[in-house]
Amino acid sequence: MKILLTGGAGFIATHTCVELMEAGHEAVIVDNYVNSQPEAVRRVEEIVGRPVKTYEADVCDKDAMNRIFDENEFDAVIHFAGLKAVGESVSIPLRYYRNNLDSTLTLCEVMAAHGCKRLVFSSSATVYGVPDEVPLREDMFCKGCTNPYGWTKYMIEKILMSVVTADPSWSVVLLRYFNPIGAHASGRIGEDPTGIPNNLMPYITKVAAGQLEKLTVMGNDYHTHDGTGVRDYIHVVDLAKGHVKACDYAAAHQGCEIINLGTGVGYSVLDIVHAFNKANGLNIPYVIGPRRPGDVDACFADPRKAKELLGWEATKTLEDMCRDSWNWQRNNPKGYHS
Ligand code: WQD
Repeated sequence: MKILLTGGAGFIATHTCVELMEAGHEAVIVDNYVNSQPEAVRRVEEIVGRPVKTYEADVCDKDAMNRIFDENEFDAVIHFAGLKAVGESVSIPLRYYRNNLDSTLTLCEVMAAHGCKRLVFSSSATVYGVPDEVPLREDMFCKGCTNPYGWTKYMIEKILMSVVTADPSWSVVLLRYFNPIGAHASGRIGEDPTGIPNNLMPYITKVAAGQLEKLTVMGNDYHTHDGTGVRDYIHVVDLAKGHVKACDYAAAHQGCEIINLGTGVGYSVLDIVHAFNKANGLNIPYVIGPRRPGDVDACFADPRKAKELLGWEATKTLEDMCRDSWNWQRNNPKGYHS
């Protein structure tokens, strides 16, 4: 299949591009590089050994998107493009709603106009809000999100469900990611956050690289086995392979499915620190600090539906995730600016 990846130069998208092309598909990238680097695409081309057609454009730009669809006959689209920093979304909510919703509405209109009705959407476990129970199942009622970023994902899910209700010939898969970490084994592509990382693993790797002094463990009074927050960490390559399976599923079915992409196993912050130290022979300095507002005690997936519907399950271990995260950071001290 020929598949368009919006936001294709991003962390999860580049890993997905590699897996799609290694599975025999043709991937095309559109990205405005607001949160990514063209170098990331060059690294993908290096890994797969062939060029990747790339357009520099904003998915909100309808004329640009029409030109891209005029020039290519896409079998499906994976919609990664979107602003994704939880904390930032609280301070500039209108930019998040405008960008994430507009880009999706524009994409769907252009897809429909060109007869392309297979869409895989990059959603997030954040749509579950503060869970009453874990593991999280796709049929659980989502009580509400804790930040505008999460609301944009929630609203886009509803928009896409409405599109399918109005035109059942669409095929939409809403993938709810848990906590993607790790990097391609080559160490040539990985997570390259701008500024001080918000997320745990890139913060840890920058401490390991000596770019940050120590980790602050945000709260140790949660209702978990060691008091620190528990999350479902999933290797980004496992996540990428899940997208390949989701595209295959979308090509063979119609309708709309919500699917968790997680391991089903929760690890605490201190579990991650200890695993990272063990996998890499390091000793990450940390202090215990106050809880981060909006954080929940525990969040991890019920992964059964992905296994049943997609024939997919995560296979990489926590050691793989820790080793590959450090391998990327160690070999790229300044990310794609190295
Ligand atoms: C993980 C754990 C923190 C940093 C976020 C988004 C979610 C998704 C994944 C996009 C928590 C603790 C963290 C630090 C810490 N992104 N922590 N010190 O918050 O589970 O999910 O990223 O879809 O939408 O909300 O991930 O990596 O920020 O935090 O102790 O310096 O690590 O409290 O328990 P989170 P995270």
